[in-house]
Amino acid sequence: MSDIFKWNDEYLIGIDEIDEQHKRLFSIAATFEQAKTDSQSIKALMEVFRYTREHFTLEEEFMKKVNYPGYYEHEQEHETFIDELNDLVADFDNSLEERDKLIALLAHWVVDHICNSDHLISSFVDTKT
Ligand code: FEO
Repeated sequence: MSDIFKWNDEYLIGIDEIDEQHKRLFSIAATFEQAKTDSQSIKALMEVFRYTREHFTLEEEFMKKVNYPGYYEHEQEHETFIDELNDLVADFDNSLEERDKLIALLAHWVVDHICNSDHLISSFVDTKT
């Protein structure tokens, strides 16, 4: 087991509702990484899908509420992630290769997207207060 999906408070963006969802996404991604059986992997993957969509909806509503100027680009990143996830899941057979691809995609998204793109939302909010 790696620490790739271990939560670190450096990932906090300072918007409580979004931070709580990000922590949950890390936890679900860790559950997928640690799954031992096909059924555990599929169950975790379905939860990644479900919760990611729930999170994107909340975050996009927040961006609209605060009139975030980078809304369109950010929403496109979310769509791209969902498309890539869909493509990988379509061929998913729980092989080591498929698992590695999914873990790489989740790592890219949960770590890089949160640390970079999501942080820009809170930076924008900070400039307004
Ligand atoms: Fe927290 Fe833009 O996803």
